[in-house]
Amino acid sequence: MLEDFRDRKLGIMIHWGLYSVPAWAPRDTRLLDLLGEVEQGTYGVNDPRYADIDPILTSPYSEWYQNSQADPRTPTAAYHREHYGDREYASFRTDFEADIAGFDARTWASAFDGAGARYLVLITKHHDGYQLWPSAVGDTSPLPGFNSSRDLVAEVAEAVRARGLMLGLYYSGGFDWCFGEFPVTSYENSQGFIPDTPEYAAYVDAHYRELVERYHPEVLWNDIGSPPGLDVAGLVDWYRAQVPGGLINDRFRQDSVPDFTTPEYGKSADIAEQPWEMCRGVGHSFGYNRAETQAETLNVAEAVRLLADVVSKNGNLLLGVGPTSTGEIPQLQAEVLRGLGRWLQVNGDAIFGTRPWHAAEVTTVGGQTGYLTRRGDDELYLIVPGLQAGPVEIAGLIVPDDTQAAVLGAGPVAVRTEAGRTLLQIDAVPVEEAVAIRFAGADIVHRTSRISS
Ligand code: GLC
Repeated sequence: MLEDFRDRKLGIMIHWGLYSVPAWAPRDTRLLDLLGEVEQGTYGVNDPRYADIDPILTSPYSEWYQNSQADPRTPTAAYHREHYGDREYASFRTDFEADIAGFDARTWASAFDGAGARYLVLITKHHDGYQLWPSAVGDTSPLPGFNSSRDLVAEVAEAVRARGLMLGLYYSGGFDWCFGEFPVTSYENSQGFIPDTPEYAAYVDAHYRELVERYHPEVLWNDIGSPPGLDVAGLVDWYRAQVPGGLINDRFRQDSVPDFTTPEYGKSADIAEQPWEMCRGVGHSFGYNRAETQAETLNVAEAVRLLADVVSKNGNLLLGVGPTSTGEIPQLQAEVLRGLGRWLQVNGDAIFGTRPWHAAEVTTVGGQTGYLTRRGDDELYLIVPGLQAGPVEIAGLIVPDDTQAAVLGAGPVAVRTEAGRTLLQIDAVPVEEAVAIRFAGADIVHRTSRISS
């Protein structure tokens, strides 16, 4: 199943729950800079008003609303006081369960399929502990029956599978704020907020078994580690007996062997040996944040570039979509999904089912970055975001003389190598965000070389 998962390249991650009711978070990006391990400030301007508050409490993630709101100094606490007075977070359940009345999972499935996504990861229980399925496990929880009576997991699973998407289920094994260990006040010590009682370990184990027995997910996507008393290896063995070839991510616990890693808001500088999956929201939050604008949101060109970049380095892209409490996909996010779909419709051959070549990037003489992928031994693809029609020179790439080149969506083009450069004439750009060029020929993957330019 791992090879199938790697072939699928683009997944959608859905965060939907009680936090989708207030649907608000500050636009402070310190946490993203920490997570992505990139230079400070890459994701935006850090708000100096919050300098004395730990970045975890000013998280731009709306699904952390309950945690952020619990500290009276935070912007989320101020927002909550202004809009909801002293209402308890758990009372959003009434709003959520009323708001979902008209929800039809088939509209999601059609939007994700239209975006070109080939798998879905659905949040079944986030850190607030609310479950999107009518669980029969509940007696040991401080909040028994804290779940939707509608089986939203089943509805979504059925709708996306009907369109051929693979199903992954996210479950927050580490945090469950029903068990009282919150607010999480420190990014560094966040693991210290995992409940360590045997009751909680048994609860997580029972939930996982219930999810697997009911929905047979192809991927178990755990978050924030596992409670100390959980037998992760035993659980995973049991899961693989139920779902042969089932995959697990790298967030159970250090001693479990993951099928893939999951950098969050972080990319890979080069081709990674192990399969990996970059996850991020279309904006700076996974759950819907009504305060976000286009400035925090990927545009279509950025999303296409990101996909090509990740895929050229042996990764999948898991793009987070945060629907409103009624299940609607907000405009800014829907726009990106449609744009990705338009581009993949024409250029999907350069992405799906490919593997990295021995180099991920080349540069055109005009200074544009191109991303390389390959299919088998006979096809090499070059994706160049922002390329215009006209002559193109690719520095440092030497393709064999008998190479046949074609622009996806346009047709064959002449190609030749001269003085260490590959020269092409692009007459038309089929989809504006990026041009994908196929180089084909027997064993071209091995006969093509990259020299330093
Ligand atoms: C996290 C966050 C979270 C999000 C997730 C997705 O660690 O706590 O809100 O669900 O990972 O990768």
